[in-house]
Amino acid sequence: MDCCFHYLQAMKHSCNISHTILFSLILILVFKLFIYCDDFQQVTRSIFLAKLRFPGFLEEGDEVKLPPKDCDLFTGKWVLDKITHPLYKEDECKFLSEQLTCIKNGRLDSLYQNWRWQPRDCSLPKFNARLLLEKLSGKRLMFVGDSLNRNQWESMVCLLLQSGVSGKKSRQKSGSLIIFSIKEYNTTVEFFWSPFLVESNSDNPWRHSIKDRIIKPESIKNNGDDWKGVDYLIFNTYIWWMNSGYIKVLRGSFDAEPVEYDEIERPIAYGRVVKRWAEWVDENVDSKFTSVYFMSMSPTHIKSSDWNNPDGILCANETLPMTNLSIPPPYIGTDYRALQMVADVIQSMKVPVNFINITAMSEYRKDAHTSVYTTRQGQLITKEQQADPATYADCIHWCLPGLPDTWNELLYTHIISHS
Ligand SMILES: *[C@@H]1O[C@H](CO)[C@@H](O)[C@H](O)[C@H]1NC(C)=O
Ligand SMILES: *[C@@H]1O[C@H](CO)[C@@H](O)[C@H](O)[C@H]1NC(C)=O
Ligand SMILES: *[C@@H]1O[C@H](CO)[C@@H](O)[C@H](O)[C@H]1NC(C)=O
Ligand SMILES: *[C@@H]1O[C@H](CO)[C@@H](O)[C@H](O)[C@H]1NC(C)=O
Repeated sequence: MDCCFHYLQAMKHSCNISHTILFSLILILVFKLFIYCDDFQQVTRSIFLAKLRFPGFLEEGDEVKLPPKDCDLFTGKWVLDKITHPLYKEDECKFLSEQLTCIKNGRLDSLYQNWRWQPRDCSLPKFNARLLLEKLSGKRLMFVGDSLNRNQWESMVCLLLQSGVSGKKSRQKSGSLIIFSIKEYNTTVEFFWSPFLVESNSDNPWRHSIKDRIIKPESIKNNGDDWKGVDYLIFNTYIWWMNSGYIKVLRGSFDAEPVEYDEIERPIAYGRVVKRWAEWVDENVDSKFTSVYFMSMSPTHIKSSDWNNPDGILCANETLPMTNLSIPPPYIGTDYRALQMVADVIQSMKVPVNFINITAMSEYRKDAHTSVYTTRQGQLITKEQQADPATYADCIHWCLPGLPDTWNELLYTHIISHS
């Protein structure tokens, strides 16, 4: 958008010059805006289209200010902003699952909903659901991964419903695939359960609380067939790796009796899986039609000494983000080797992958987890269980509205800037 600004300046200074020159300048200005300011052109076009379809709707969000392309959106701070956040209300999004509706489940504080992410060198554009829907019109967007990606998928559904459209949820592939379709825009926002991305004995979306998690790192095709042809693919895999330092890797077949496996150090197994995933993307994705994203790890908050609160019980009773920036991440419990590994593999890929680096910004959000205001094995946590956060607090998933909305604001920024 920088160039647009200069041309406007140029226009102002030319007022004293004769009308002919002024006229030529304006012609050049308009011409150049459309040739060089790609983003400007795209956004203008979308707004134009949206206006055609919904006259008057976008008025308020008309000026979409995109951050400069080279701005690091992942370095910044959390700012309390009760005016713009939350981006929707918990009780207005009827598609939220009971796992994430913390207030309804008894949480008394709500400040965790009011924090806005402020990048150090620029600002995120204001979220505009209609504009995003225009970009996604006639397209499929799919989150692929574990329950944190499902957490983000639920957030995306609520964000899009802010526009006033209606949608419908359905399940396919015996539950592995959940599709949210918005008929008005011929758009689907989907979630595909695949906690390791490669084949594993935890791929069943209903029965995956398996103690002995076993993966088959070289096998991705079974799942991958369902990801082909999708316009926006958003991957993640992390939390299922964190049970132990060793991962069970299949030797032979899952049908063998007994199933045989080797135990391999986590970073080595993770590296093999990320490489297999990268091969699949390079072989099956046409970057002309599909944008690929990888969400970095979502951190957990189980050790309150990480934020100087020796009396804390995991993340329970935390109502504020960490503000003491003299103790920057990484914190205990986050395996940054995984982050670096993905970042490195992406560098060597043929298909460009957008790495959404949410880890550090999320580390500060010890206040944003579902804690005891959630479900466990499908059942709402009881009052007695709530009184025992040491056993029952979930410091992995996040309340909605909340932190994953910010992850989607980052995704939004990329989608409206590049499509
Ligand atoms: C992710 O973002 C954090 C915070 O700015 C930064 O320190 C870290 O180097 C980034 N990691 C990668 C792999 O880009
Ligand atoms: C709806 O979108 C799909 C792609 O997701 C496309 O194949 C189909 O032609 C579209 N239908 C209409 C009526 O635009
Ligand atoms: C922590 O939260 C529990 C409810 O889970 C509450 O009973 C207790 O008083 C809180 N403790 C402190 C120190 O705030
Ligand atoms: C911030 O963290 C540093 C390093 O752990 C500590 O020395 C300091 O007392 C903390 N400040 C506050 C206000 O908690």
